Amino acid sequence: MGKLRSRLGHTLREAGVIHSHVDGFTASQQQQLQELMAPVEQQLAQLEEQLAGPELDILDSYCAATPSAQTAIDIFAGEWASEFPPPLSGVRAGDAPLFAIEHVPWGVEVLGGVRGQRVVELGPLEGGHTYLLDRMGAAEVVAIEANTRAFLKCLVSKELLGIPSARFLCGDALRYLESELARGAAKFDFCLASGVLYHFLNPVAALDLMTRASDRLLLWTMYYDEDYIRSREDLSVKFPKATAMEYDGYAHTLYRQEYQQSLDYKGFCGGSAASSAWMTRSDILGALDHFGFDVVDIAFEEQNHKGNGPCFCVAAKRRGT
Ligand SMILES: C[S@@+](CC[C@H](N)C(=O)[O-])C[C@H]1O[C@@H](n2cnc3c(N)ncnc32)[C@H](O)[C@@H]1O
Repeated sequence: MGKLRSRLGHTLREAGVIHSHVDGFTASQQQQLQELMAPVEQQLAQLEEQLAGPELDILDSYCAATPSAQTAIDIFAGEWASEFPPPLSGVRAGDAPLFAIEHVPWGVEVLGGVRGQRVVELGPLEGGHTYLLDRMGAAEVVAIEANTRAFLKCLVSKELLGIPSARFLCGDALRYLESELARGAAKFDFCLASGVLYHFLNPVAALDLMTRASDRLLLWTMYYDEDYIRSREDLSVKFPKATAMEYDGYAHTLYRQEYQQSLDYKGFCGGSAASSAWMTRSDILGALDHFGFDVVDIAFEEQNHKGNGPCFCVAAKRRGT
């Protein structure tokens, strides 16, 4: 505010309204200046208040109800995607059956099980698949979640259901794999990448990391199908551009996908940028082959998953293992 007053004094002096230096105002000039400044200062104060947002009332963060599963879930009321399994099926959360999804047990079985093994999971969202891996006997599931609200929801799920093998980490899953590989950490026995590949900006680099971090990979993903996407005006507008790319000598095409209005939803569960890159089904399979992986089986093909386009689930493992 002092700076503004001094600039105003300078401007008034230049305009010939006052003649002395800003620090040498007479009493009546100071009075004049104060009167001039009063509405400006008032507006500035209002602007500062608006920028700071509503005042935090810490008492709003208290829960006065008798503790229950619901009180913990309601910290993120309206933001849950998952429906909770028994014994919590009575709680109000989301309606997606992520704690009972079929493609995870399918892929785990096709790839030989996870009992007693170390699993890495990318993007657990609310811990539904982590819970399934735990119940299928995994010794440790390191699940890395980049969305801080989703990370906290995972902790709520872990507390409410008991997921003893889970270690939820808050941060970027690809940066985690990079750092583990850089320090020469042991490979994981199994990698679960469900619902994440199409949220990355460089999905081939992501596949490179996943296939180096583990010799077995279960990948559920949406993919780009030109005929289908272009047949749907609502989807078509989200894919403005295709770019020919090369990574590690592997030529492929990336289709820019924009999240658009989905970014307005607090329960948003996409990637950490405003857009991501989708690949075609054949480019995804080609990349797995390029990184030395054979497809063991493919299932759960859908042309229009939840209105968002085609998806499939691939169980793959390193050639010769
Ligand atoms: C569509 S949800 C999939 C959730 C669950 N894995 C499933 O298949 O139902 C994508 C999840 O990945 C998380 N995610 C996106 N980009 C990530 C990244 N770079 N690192 C870690 N998590 C990420 C999102 O926050 C979200 O929780």
